[in-house]
Amino acid sequence: MSQPFRTLLVGLGARGRVWARLLNEEPRVTIAGFVDQAEERLAAIRHAYRVPTGACFTDLGDALGAVRPDLVMLATPPMGRSEDALRVLEHGAHLLCEKPLALDLGDAVRIVEAAEQAGRALAVGVNFRYQHCVTRARAIVRSGEIGRPAFSRYVYWRNRDGYRPGLNRYPLTMRQPMLYEQSIHHFDQLRFVYDAEVTRVSCRCHNPSWSMYRDDATVSAVLELSGGILVTYIGTWSAQTKMTDFEWRTDFDRGALVQRQMFSDLSIARGSGAERVEPLPLPAQEQLVDDARLLLAHVAAQLAAGTLRPHPSGLDHLKTLGVVAACEESHHTGQAILMEDFYARHNVPDRWLAWRETGRPER
Ligand SMILES: NC(=O)c1ccc[n+]([C@@H]2O[C@H](COP(=O)([O-])OP(=O)(O)OC[C@H]3O[C@@H](n4cnc5c(N)ncnc54)[C@H](O)[C@@H]3O)[C@@H](O)[C@H]2O)c1
Repeated sequence: MSQPFRTLLVGLGARGRVWARLLNEEPRVTIAGFVDQAEERLAAIRHAYRVPTGACFTDLGDALGAVRPDLVMLATPPMGRSEDALRVLEHGAHLLCEKPLALDLGDAVRIVEAAEQAGRALAVGVNFRYQHCVTRARAIVRSGEIGRPAFSRYVYWRNRDGYRPGLNRYPLTMRQPMLYEQSIHHFDQLRFVYDAEVTRVSCRCHNPSWSMYRDDATVSAVLELSGGILVTYIGTWSAQTKMTDFEWRTDFDRGALVQRQMFSDLSIARGSGAERVEPLPLPAQEQLVDDARLLLAHVAAQLAAGTLRPHPSGLDHLKTLGVVAACEESHHTGQAILMEDFYARHNVPDRWLAWRETGRPER
């Protein structure tokens, strides 16, 4: 095996601490330094991982100059992310960035452009793709065993306590928190599982009177995907009760797939007119950790093989972030958005849109 990638972890909040654990466990990388604006977070990591003081920084620029990492894991909040991402790429490091790549599609395009020009890898942490139920659903779609997906309902109905200790605070006050922080994972899953691209969106966002979020915590959207797939989506963090509802049901030419828990409970109905579903048993996963572990292992393996657009790539992420941004615009204008026009208005090159990832994980 080649030398492990010397990695700088930036952001030691709720998510960064998970990444610290995963980077520490992944044999193809070694943690060369930590960055956080908050001294107490650096002190806690020094204590947990016995890191020398000289490997801890409060400023990204200082850390890049001192550590000269091969890879940077950016796990800061998305505000101000584009400046940090561009700085990392200017320093010649590969970048693995948490989602969303940016809060503005134009900024995300500039980051992808910078990575392409620098010949550096850019991957995005859309770890939901690595949940077993998601890779299994994708494999069923690709096998064609129950035909092609035709239409679906995606329901994510949750009361998320944004003040819960240990949870990030910034979604309470950011623009469109549900869309940019949560629905982005769901839209990415839809594209990934159906192996299809969103062609048209229509969306309304909403914030109930009791919401603890300053901006909309509910997203209601209709998405049309290539191959004629129609998706009705509703996602909320502002459910009135603590009873979480999740259901992602897709009807196919000759059956259906139904997922009834956020991270598990996938079942299949075979044949048109089927009267029951059969469970599809899958190994258990630690939520939001084991999927990210698989993502990291996959990205590290691709970097070791010299792949410059490792899956899940920044390039591919533009088409998930694009759907999020188009939903926001549709909400404001009250108009349906044709994605082709939307990408043209945001200067996303056609050759990037035409590019398809290969070597994606399958079960
Ligand atoms: N993929 C997932 O499943 C998942 C889950 C949770 C969070 N996230 C993502 O991870 C990212 C971070 O979220 P979080 O929950 O850890 O947030 P957080 O607020 O808990 O932590 C952010 C940390 O970054 C530090 N920070 C902020 N700006 C910085 C800067 N410019 N330089 C250095 N340090 C800085 C803060 O001091 C804080 O310690 C977000 O993009 C979020 O969407 C992803």
